[in-house]
Amino acid sequence: MCGIVGYIGKEKCISKIISGLESLEYRGYDSAGIAYVKNNTVIIKKEQGRIANLKENINLEEESYMGIGHTRWATHGKPCQINSHPHKVGKVTVVHNGIIENYESLKKELSEYEWVSETDSEVVAALIDKLYREDNDMVKLLSKLKDYLVGSYALGIIIDGDDKLYAIRKDSPLIIGVSENGNFIASDVPAILEYTNLYYLILNDEYAVLSRDDVVIYDKDGNISTKNLLTFEGNREAAMKNGYEHFMLKEIYEQPKVIMDTIKEYISDLDTLKEKMSGLEKYEEIDIVGCGSAYHVGLVGKSLIEKYGHVRVNVDIASEYRYSDHIYKKNHLILVISQSGETADTLAVLRKAKEDGIDTLAIVNVVGSSIAREADRVLYIKAGVEIAVATTKAYSCQLMMLSMIALYLGIINGMLNESIFEEYKKLDKIITDILNDTSDTKSVAEIIYKNKDIFFLGRKLDYALSMEASLKLKEVSYLHSEAYAAGELKHGTISLIETGTPVISLITEDDIRLKTLSNVKEVCARGALSVIITNEEVLDKEVYDKLILIPKLHDLVGSVLVIIKCQLIAYYVAKLNGCDIDKPRNLAKSVTVE
Ligand code: AGP
Repeated sequence: MCGIVGYIGKEKCISKIISGLESLEYRGYDSAGIAYVKNNTVIIKKEQGRIANLKENINLEEESYMGIGHTRWATHGKPCQINSHPHKVGKVTVVHNGIIENYESLKKELSEYEWVSETDSEVVAALIDKLYREDNDMVKLLSKLKDYLVGSYALGIIIDGDDKLYAIRKDSPLIIGVSENGNFIASDVPAILEYTNLYYLILNDEYAVLSRDDVVIYDKDGNISTKNLLTFEGNREAAMKNGYEHFMLKEIYEQPKVIMDTIKEYISDLDTLKEKMSGLEKYEEIDIVGCGSAYHVGLVGKSLIEKYGHVRVNVDIASEYRYSDHIYKKNHLILVISQSGETADTLAVLRKAKEDGIDTLAIVNVVGSSIAREADRVLYIKAGVEIAVATTKAYSCQLMMLSMIALYLGIINGMLNESIFEEYKKLDKIITDILNDTSDTKSVAEIIYKNKDIFFLGRKLDYALSMEASLKLKEVSYLHSEAYAAGELKHGTISLIETGTPVISLITEDDIRLKTLSNVKEVCARGALSVIITNEEVLDKEVYDKLILIPKLHDLVGSVLVIIKCQLIAYYVAKLNGCDIDKPRNLAKSVTVE
């Protein structure tokens, strides 16, 4: 997610802005830049890569008292110096956090401008420049900006020759910091904690005019707003978590938004889905390859794509696949999945596939990462920065991307129609409802957190989901866990089940519901502590100690609900065990070595 910091005041601005950007590095970024006013001239410095690169080209003690800075997490246009912010068009310099969905149509209306970058943010700067030239009134301009822009934005704006700093937001975060020596805009409080803990929250469609010793905030109707000045109590780390105790929990709760951010453009209408997925129907076999959770989500993808797409899907662990022999079909696709886009084994698979002349597709979160850049084609999820080592929101977004591939192929082969789009469109509300009541997952955590061996059972799609459920629990709580095909348990491993052994069974598919319940009875007969996560009432109360019910949706959409419940169970077990949830021992967020 991008980061914004701006300052106007009696003290020099550059070091404050750079320090603020450094406090926002946790949000992840691929480039950084600053615009500052010196001798009534806007000077822009911006570099791809780390803030340290930027610092090599600026003088932190420059005589400048107003400026705006930005760390970019690329969404439109690859990471490079030209696409970095700030963007200056005409008299207007802008830093932007968010996604302008109608930027292409705006570009057409702003045909008098010549475009330097690939970004939507440059279009915003041009729009403001055009509107400003019409009547030189920024307050009036900001009051009507929402009529032109579709999407999300937090903007910091400087106008040539104007000694004010302007800010406006919609959906992307922005706060106004105040101090006796000057005033700030920032994406969140950590960026300015070094200088002040006093701030105003500005809400959607509200905007602000900052001067050296004053801040005027306007409400969405254009009236001057009298807001309470807030005081941030706590340290920087706490502020970065937006009030959540751990990044993992924050990211679990970001899922309604980021899942919708990932799917909404694809399911807006059938033509859009066909346009974005076109060509995938030509493949007669797909190899899905990844590591860890990326491998696990591939197993879910296999289940969905084979069921609805009628395409053979093989799934493998990258570290195995890269050294194995493969027989490729004429039209074969290698689909690599990676949140970071830098996992060494997965990247190696991609490079070998290209050497072998096999088509490659990547599902990636980090824009411009190695895998994203080197794959023939990339489908980006929009999970935003994922800080907790244990993936949650990225896994869910990957799952939904695979679901949409299955949806597309199912529509092309006539198995599905666009009526199912409605189920996708209500997913964020359903997930929000699940997240609003965690009593069931907390109660399960309380009865299992002292155990040493915890089993997850499932069949088919549920077995694939159980693989991730088990890994989540192991990663963050350090308890041993194993995912097992429910029908396979009796072929040996059931010998490990004894009185009190927790067995969590995932049952969401109708065609194997009774089969899995029979397996649950087998473990209950041996004294297991049985938890069932399912989308239908279980009448036989003897087969569970705890039942977690989820809404029954089409399996293309409902699978993600199961894993969210399992993410919460893992989180609460780890919390009860006092584990280092965001940074589990021995683990790294991105494994860039073999
Ligand atoms: C997931 O919780 C783990 N942190 C790990 O298995 C991860 O999924 C794996 O290392 C792959 O990472 P990637 O998605 O960035 O390639």
